[in-house]
Amino acid sequence: MMNVMRHLRVPNKSVQDVIVLLKDNDLLHNGMRIFPDSDGKHRLIPLSKSAPYDLPSYFTEFEEVIQQGKPDERANESWWAYLSRMIGEDIVREHGESWPANHEFIGDIMIVRINEEISSYKEEIALSKMASHPKVRMVMEDRGVQGELRIRDLYPIALRKDSEIITREISEEMCDTRVLVRESGKSILCDPRRAYFSTKLQTERLETLRLAKELRSMLARPLRVCDPFCGVGPALATLLGETDLVGRMLASDLNPDAVELLLDNLRRWDRRDYPTEAKKISRLHEDRIVGVADATKLHEDPSISGAWDLLLVNLPHRTVDLLPTLVPLLDRTGTSMIRGRAIAAESEIEDVNEAIRKALPPRLQGTPEPTLRIKREYSSTLRLCSFEAWIGPAP
Ligand SMILES: C[S@@+](CC[C@H](N)C(=O)[O-])C[C@H]1O[C@@H](n2cnc3c(N)ncnc32)[C@H](O)[C@@H]1O
Repeated sequence: MMNVMRHLRVPNKSVQDVIVLLKDNDLLHNGMRIFPDSDGKHRLIPLSKSAPYDLPSYFTEFEEVIQQGKPDERANESWWAYLSRMIGEDIVREHGESWPANHEFIGDIMIVRINEEISSYKEEIALSKMASHPKVRMVMEDRGVQGELRIRDLYPIALRKDSEIITREISEEMCDTRVLVRESGKSILCDPRRAYFSTKLQTERLETLRLAKELRSMLARPLRVCDPFCGVGPALATLLGETDLVGRMLASDLNPDAVELLLDNLRRWDRRDYPTEAKKISRLHEDRIVGVADATKLHEDPSISGAWDLLLVNLPHRTVDLLPTLVPLLDRTGTSMIRGRAIAAESEIEDVNEAIRKALPPRLQGTPEPTLRIKREYSSTLRLCSFEAWIGPAP
């Protein structure tokens, strides 16, 4: 059978990023292989049959080629095949949709959500997933994000140690969860058991980059960027990667562990000295304010309030409540922007839109009303959404 199909021709150095983005957008063809182009400098990545004719804007920099596809023989040895061999096809069929078809990679850690109905098969799930992903060092169960610091409750199920896989008595010392993740050409140090981090927000970060560039061309100068819920700093990694986009920058978080990881990251991304220990927010360089802080109190500091062009608000379950304490951070003498995320019940999105509009100053003339766009399901009724608000100068 001829398998002539669409491929994205991507420079070798960008392949890992593009794979994550394609997966995130359900655009990667699962049964076909990624293979080197004849020039040795690019790879051809197969696009899913349902990929729209017009791909999202961040893929348009890559050439699309129609080419004979190569079936991925390994795809047949998926984790399902291993699982079926281990527990029998009947049990696999019996629990149908309950099995975790998806997982998330954070470095060499695989994170899986396990439905209550099949929780007695945790070990078999982990062993099957590891067999089909030989580079995974550890499989951890994701028991959800918890508390104000939004840290995931992760529980180790299986660990590769030398040539063995251990599933029992995995001690704390064995579970090193500090990992480097590659994204948009940058290495992000994170530790999902100490600070929030999600690879699934990469598309979101690229959208923020596009909006920031629009704001920069409007202001005709580098931006003063304020990220008061910055975690380990992934949104800043993307923005700092663009030449002359970030002028002044504030990066803070309530979680000292996140700030410690952020400082390590900034040392690499910003190519300057940063301390190793997380301390209360302070000016570490003339144009860099970094440290531990409660975002809702920042506006009380006169050297911080009224000083920023772009404000990132990434604490989605509290966005609407917190906006009144965050808006004073914007410099209202010119145009500014708030880029945020919010969780809302699908049936109440219009009400939340209204609440956001009420909490914000008047929008910049000629720009659309801030409006939530659904990004993914958060639970059966709740949706994770994002929005941007262009704010006009105060009269
Ligand atoms: C959903 S995470 C987002 C982290 C980061 N922006 C990212 O995209 O990976 C929210 C972050 O807000 C921090 N946080 C929660 N309440 C806060 C507060 N009152 N002030 C500052 N940071 C807070 C948490 O510690 C967490 O790192």
